[in-house]
Amino acid sequence: MIGDDIQLDVRLPKSPGMGAILLDREMKNRDQSVDAFVYNLNQAVETIIRQHSENGIARGTEVTEKYVSKTYKSKSLYERAKKVLPAGVSYGIRYFEPYPFYTSKAKGCKLYDVDGNEYIDFWLGHTALILGHSPPAIVKAVGKQLENGTQYGTSHELEVEVAEQVVKMVPSAEMIRFTNSGTEANMYATRLARAYTGKNCIAKFEGGWHGGYDALQIGVKQPFNVPESAGLTEGATNDTILLPFNDLEGVKNELREKEIASILVEPVLGSGGGVPANKEFLKGLRELCDEKNILLIFDEVITGFRLAPGGGQQYYGVTPDITVLGKILGGGFPIGAFCGRKEIMERINSLVHKRRDYSFHGGTFAANPITMVAGLTTLRTLESGELIDGLNRLGHKTREQLAEIFETGDIDAQVIGAGSIFNVHFTKEEVVDAHVASRADKSKLFDYHLKLIADGIFMLPTHNGALSAAHTNAEMERLFSETEDYARHANSS
Ligand SMILES: Cc1ncc(COP(=O)(O)O)c(C=O)c1O
Repeated sequence: MIGDDIQLDVRLPKSPGMGAILLDREMKNRDQSVDAFVYNLNQAVETIIRQHSENGIARGTEVTEKYVSKTYKSKSLYERAKKVLPAGVSYGIRYFEPYPFYTSKAKGCKLYDVDGNEYIDFWLGHTALILGHSPPAIVKAVGKQLENGTQYGTSHELEVEVAEQVVKMVPSAEMIRFTNSGTEANMYATRLARAYTGKNCIAKFEGGWHGGYDALQIGVKQPFNVPESAGLTEGATNDTILLPFNDLEGVKNELREKEIASILVEPVLGSGGGVPANKEFLKGLRELCDEKNILLIFDEVITGFRLAPGGGQQYYGVTPDITVLGKILGGGFPIGAFCGRKEIMERINSLVHKRRDYSFHGGTFAANPITMVAGLTTLRTLESGELIDGLNRLGHKTREQLAEIFETGDIDAQVIGAGSIFNVHFTKEEVVDAHVASRADKSKLFDYHLKLIADGIFMLPTHNGALSAAHTNAEMERLFSETEDYARHANSS
């Protein structure tokens, strides 16, 4: 006997890129002998070999081989990187099998790697680069600022100008404070909501990603009831309530008899799969918050300045109390910000409030002039709404066309998103929340994205795609034709 008796269920990953063979150990068969164990293992290996030639893995291998054959220098950089950077990367999500390529430069809508490969970039620096890589206006403005100082650590005019510009563009913004990342901005916004309301509990949605702040790093990925990371203490997470996305009745049920400071929601679930909120749902949240004296916080780190000049709140016509911003606001440089009604934001005013009702915010590089000048240039470019309208139309067309390609190819897929954000989920089900998104076939999505990468189109595997002003019809046609190629092969395998 082997210990507690183990039955092996060996399944081949749908893509070799998804990693090594999956060995699922099930404790079902309590009478299993060593012989039965070995027999089962042999059977499983045979099944693997059979499946390997039957179910399209050969195609997957071909794609991986193509990628590997084009990225020798990246592979050797990855070997070096692994020794000094955990997983060889500076952010876990940037790793993908068999190894990530290493970028040497970027311009417009293209990335170039160390092996000289060119990629049409639909990831756009985590969706931050709505004007593309190094747009001339930003290069010029930042170049000038470089001569005049990169980090003052004092007050300066540019920060006032960016603040005024955000207040002009974002409906909920009367006052703003800058941070260096979306994570920080969500952390300070949460603290502010607690300070303002005097309540401890906060609520967020299943599948909502708001960065690595302890109190918000729960319920991001399925299974939602398992901690997202080690090191998150109960003290840090016990006051966070998890709510069902796009389900107003569910939210009401969950919050019945609870006293909470804030409800934090992304107008479009970003890392949760590009799932747009229903307008009625957001309106209902607004009403509920008013009724129960809860602050409504929109995390617009992705949707801000992308769905509309005033972000998701303008797009949906629902105004939150506090808005969290990031990505696009920095014009390609590190940023985060939180803004909202004056009365709430004034809690950060240390001249007015002391200790017990004051809410701290600060940071060495907050509102550094490089980020501010890049952000200001970007906001001024986006202010009229023309560029964003054009991108939203292109986004609509992209979703329609990709959906049509999968339908023609007889592939079950939902192409979702909003504005210039898009994502594909290989499932028959309508994707209305992160539960459905997580039931879709992720390995198929990985295969599709790796095929695109091997053929010169970059989408960070299994993540959202985004559009920029630098994408032209030619790049969109490449995306469509490579998707057609994927659909043809996926179907014939
Ligand atoms: C909606 C949302 N909020 C917050 C964050 C965290 O921002 P950052 O990575 O700048 O800390 C992200 C990052 O992707 C995000 O998508």
